[in-house]
Amino acid sequence: MLELAEHAVSIANKTLNEFDLSKIEKWAKHGNPRDLVSEVDQAIEERVKEFLTRETPQIPVVGEEFSPDFEHQNKSAWILDPIDGTANFLQGLDHFSISLALINNSTPEVGVILNPTQNLLYKAQKNHGAYLNGSRIEADSPKDLTDSFLCLEWGRSNQSIETGMELMRIFVPRVREYRNYGGAAQTICHVAESKLDIYIDHGLKIWDYAAGWCILNESGGMLEPISINGNEVIIAGGNDSLISAAKHLIKEEISY
Ligand code: IPD
Ligand code: CA
Repeated sequence: MLELAEHAVSIANKTLNEFDLSKIEKWAKHGNPRDLVSEVDQAIEERVKEFLTRETPQIPVVGEEFSPDFEHQNKSAWILDPIDGTANFLQGLDHFSISLALINNSTPEVGVILNPTQNLLYKAQKNHGAYLNGSRIEADSPKDLTDSFLCLEWGRSNQSIETGMELMRIFVPRVREYRNYGGAAQTICHVAESKLDIYIDHGLKIWDYAAGWCILNESGGMLEPISINGNEVIIAGGNDSLISAAKHLIKEEISY
């Protein structure tokens, strides 16, 4: 399945390269001007879905743009984000990627993430390690929040921005460095390769993190969803002690 996923991602990349990036049609989703989608996102999803449906007709394909309904009871499902970090992509910023995972019984089995402009191909298969461009990667983070490099992001609704501000207030003064990159899939890979130590995002959907989850697990890191006042927050960290410290702080300061 890993090879199939890599092939699907190469189809996605080929599709992206067919567009003249200076003339892309884009529009706001659900009337929210912060949430953009483009003809490239849609074309990638169509082509990849067509390929996967032909190769594995028994496995449903969940995709952000056309089939976002994720049935947890599905035994297996492909989970595709045709472009994660669409806002960066449309802005000409490099931090965006194509992200494809295979989930089985709510566990990630395969993850492939490609940043086409930086030529970074991250991949993993359950119990077989995580790789960047063919070389093994490992999460190796400090144990204390005070020594950590944090990326913190939030969704696009007014409510999630408010929660994001709360998280900023409690985390930023307690870590060594803070960043916000705008592309969850690649950001989770940065934890897997020890460029970041912890990533917290309020407002992620399954397609934003499924492939990264597999890659992070296989690198020795971990990802945990928690709920703050009924809203899901994803914490991806290089080790258990960082995740526990983050959960503890949220519980103390916000309550969840
Ligand atoms: C977004 C990015 C961003 C995260 C948002 C996601 P999209 O995905 O991953 O980093 O903070 O919550 O929606 O919309 O560019 O695919
Ligand atoms: Ca997307």
